[in-house]
Amino acid sequence: MLKPFSQACINNRDFILEHLRGLFEDESHKIKEYKVLEIGSGTGQHGVYFSSHLPVQWQMSDFEENHEGINAWIEETTADNCLRPIVLDVSDSEWSSQCYNALFTANTLHIMSWKNVIHFFQKACAALEPNGLVIVYGPFNYNGAYTSESNERFDQFLQASSPEKGIRDIEKVNKLALENHLLPVADYEMPANNRLLVWRFKKAT
Ligand SMILES: C[S@@+](CC[C@H](N)C(=O)[O-])C[C@H]1O[C@@H](n2cnc3c(N)ncnc32)[C@H](O)[C@@H]1O
Repeated sequence: MLKPFSQACINNRDFILEHLRGLFEDESHKIKEYKVLEIGSGTGQHGVYFSSHLPVQWQMSDFEENHEGINAWIEETTADNCLRPIVLDVSDSEWSSQCYNALFTANTLHIMSWKNVIHFFQKACAALEPNGLVIVYGPFNYNGAYTSESNERFDQFLQASSPEKGIRDIEKVNKLALENHLLPVADYEMPANNRLLVWRFKKAT
């Protein structure tokens, strides 16, 4: 099979990796052996790359139709910590029988409907260990304002393809996170007008 390919993934992966290292390391800068669940793995390139650079167990997931491409990437990696994808739609009642130390997703919240963004945050805590992280990469707006002209054009393109799609407001996403026991940790500026948003699961006792 001809492997699916995303140039954007090649462009952004090292910038994301640098932050993942910082987020996953302990006080002595050793990377914790986290279990990570990736939502909407797409081509599978991020999962294969991050698992070959981090000592974490990386579980990819997506709709079944994307698994052949993801598996084609996995077959070429020598990393044995990159697990074959599971079928996962964020609207599924249960995501996985396992709990993870971190959830990662890239370029998905503007692709799925707002209803599914709500599902994403509602289901995230059930899939996380206490103090687990939610890490989301992609374009976002602040108070409804675009951070660049290219993001505005991208949003118009998305909404023309489906009115359910669109760049989300950080404030609305943060509100959803807070409602689901996820406290903000970081909002990193990334190249090409993207953000890396991080929350930590802290259930009130
Ligand atoms: C633009 S692609 C991003 C792929 C990859 N993460 C990347 O950054 O290259 C969006 C991904 O979100 C997935 N997706 C869309 N709706 C979803 C849903 N409801 N549940 C899980 N994944 C979804 C799609 O199947 C697709 O793989």
